[in-house]
Amino acid sequence: MFAELTHTGSTCAMMNLSNRPLPLHVLRAGDFTVPMNDRLFTRAREYEERFWKDRKGLAQTHEGMILFNIFYEESSRTIASFAAAAMHLGMKVHSTQNAGQTSSAAKGESLPDTIRIMDGYLPDILVLRHPADDGAAVAAKFSAVPVINGGSGRGEHPTQAHTDVYTIEKRMGRIDGLTIIIGGDLMNGRTARSLALMLSMYRPAKIIFVSPLEVPMGSDVTARLTERGISFTETDDLRSALPEADVVYWTRVQKERMPPELYGKIKDRFIIGQQQLALMPEHAMLMHPLPRVGEIVPEEVDHDPRAGFFEQAHNGMWVRAALISSILDRTLYAP
Ligand code: NCD
Repeated sequence: MFAELTHTGSTCAMMNLSNRPLPLHVLRAGDFTVPMNDRLFTRAREYEERFWKDRKGLAQTHEGMILFNIFYEESSRTIASFAAAAMHLGMKVHSTQNAGQTSSAAKGESLPDTIRIMDGYLPDILVLRHPADDGAAVAAKFSAVPVINGGSGRGEHPTQAHTDVYTIEKRMGRIDGLTIIIGGDLMNGRTARSLALMLSMYRPAKIIFVSPLEVPMGSDVTARLTERGISFTETDDLRSALPEADVVYWTRVQKERMPPELYGKIKDRFIIGQQQLALMPEHAMLMHPLPRVGEIVPEEVDHDPRAGFFEQAHNGMWVRAALISSILDRTLYAP
């Protein structure tokens, strides 16, 4: 669906005030390579260390530059972590939550018009969350400013995939050779899709997709894995998958993206609590992009050292700081 666009490709930016350079957009997890990620993750770690040693110095990194968060769908972590990341780098931030209801979109303004207007206020980065699968790609087409996809419909959430891969590497020391369960509502969950696409750049031992049969992983994603020679299986039997897993990446059923009858039918199908934890190896990690809404039982799981989701959310801020910075200094897609 995004085939005609490239990550550098604001091919028809409507105006390029003061000849700004071609923007480096972040639209899809599949646009990244392992060396690009390694460079980003090194920077994320450096920023984290620097914060504790020299917070004021860190805040001079991109002093005075401006980030706009334009979110048409609800968000807690993504919007706040982008805002915090930018502010720790010394940037100024403007955020619009629920832009569909609170901006001119509520009056019928189109996404391209909104983007062109925002561009004209000269931010340095736009972070967009939009209900359309190609929302960020459309915005990038019209933007002279770098667009970061903060979640586009059922499509993609690439910066969450960066957060997830960074977290796995930090905790487990590697991606290659790991068996990774990606589970939940895989048809509608964009974080699961982006993670699988990003993992296809690595050499995991196996990806096990666990989902209710009604909401399997999209065939575009499984085709990419096949193309890249990544071994994967698909099942609705969580119990038999858990003992094999080094990482269990769990997600919620996307209530807002399915008919209520289907939601009612599958919402309680897979819940991770004490019994499921008991099946996981001792060294494994349990992840979740959050929010969790019943598919992980907090009182049975949160005390367990294998629970990695709060660490994962924290890591997202430094990964996003590294992304912002690599866009601004134009090293993001360097080979
Ligand atoms: C997710 C999202 O918005 O896609 N949350 C996040 O950004 N961490 C997950 C979800 O909504 O299920």
